[in-house]
Amino acid sequence: MAETRAEKVSDLGARAAAEQKARKAARDASRKIEAKETTAEKSKIVPPWEMGADGIELVDTHAHIDGEDFDADREEMLARTKAAGIVAVVTFGDTMEASARAVSLAASHETVFAGVGVHPENAFPFTQAEIDRLAAWTKETRVIAIGEIGLDYYWEKDEEKRALQRKMFTRQLALARDLDMPVCIHDREAHGDLMTILKTEGRKNRGVIHCFSGSWEMAKELLKLGWYLGVDGPLTYKNAAKLPEIVEKMPADRLLVETDCPYLSPLPYRGKRNEPAYVRLTAERAAEIRGQSLEELAAQTTKNARTVYNLK
Ligand code: NI
Repeated sequence: MAETRAEKVSDLGARAAAEQKARKAARDASRKIEAKETTAEKSKIVPPWEMGADGIELVDTHAHIDGEDFDADREEMLARTKAAGIVAVVTFGDTMEASARAVSLAASHETVFAGVGVHPENAFPFTQAEIDRLAAWTKETRVIAIGEIGLDYYWEKDEEKRALQRKMFTRQLALARDLDMPVCIHDREAHGDLMTILKTEGRKNRGVIHCFSGSWEMAKELLKLGWYLGVDGPLTYKNAAKLPEIVEKMPADRLLVETDCPYLSPLPYRGKRNEPAYVRLTAERAAEIRGQSLEELAAQTTKNARTVYNLK
């Protein structure tokens, strides 16, 4: 009897072990299927312009659509932009030539607005002739800002050339004040000098610190001074550093979403050419960080864009 029972027990044990093994195999198999489905989902990315009309409206407040990256498909790209619910694109010149192209794009497209200015990476000895030319462009259709201007010490290590950047920056800030127009500011590794300028010569300027890359402390100072902060594709990266915290804490009425296309594509397009439609991906991430719906975040940032750049 004892033996039989022992056999039965061992039988039961074997069956239990077999069942356990089978369950594990089934779990593994389903996990493999899940993994396959996830990969399939990822490879089958639905671009923003194919998401259907869900009523989400966004503004890409910082783009460069004048350049040769878009020469082959600019009109198609703008059609995709519209299909993705992007109701306006603000494109910025970074040289005199690019500013001229931005002005003509704004003149020929109802949803395109332009900023004119010279980027610090392209700093040169500015004369009154250039200032006059920028001023004349601001009278053209849908030209709404002076930008992209600012300081870039990441690319420029030479102190004399950095001084030239500061001179050009303050000259363009003065022009914006004279014209009562907002500015769009680029700041890369020049936080100290930027803050000094904005608290002195620039204290009466208004506008946007685009692609914000500073600390929460710096953000707080800028917000107190009345500035708006723009965030771009890097918000979606795993190494976004301090940016998610800033996006979470900052007041909703100062946040803008931008692409800086053709650069800085958000995930899952990182490394590929960026375009205004992808601003939706940065907006989705910002909404997630702030615990808001995309609808809410889109409505707020679009309102902010219209306010700061006076878009009509
Ligand atoms: Ni830019």
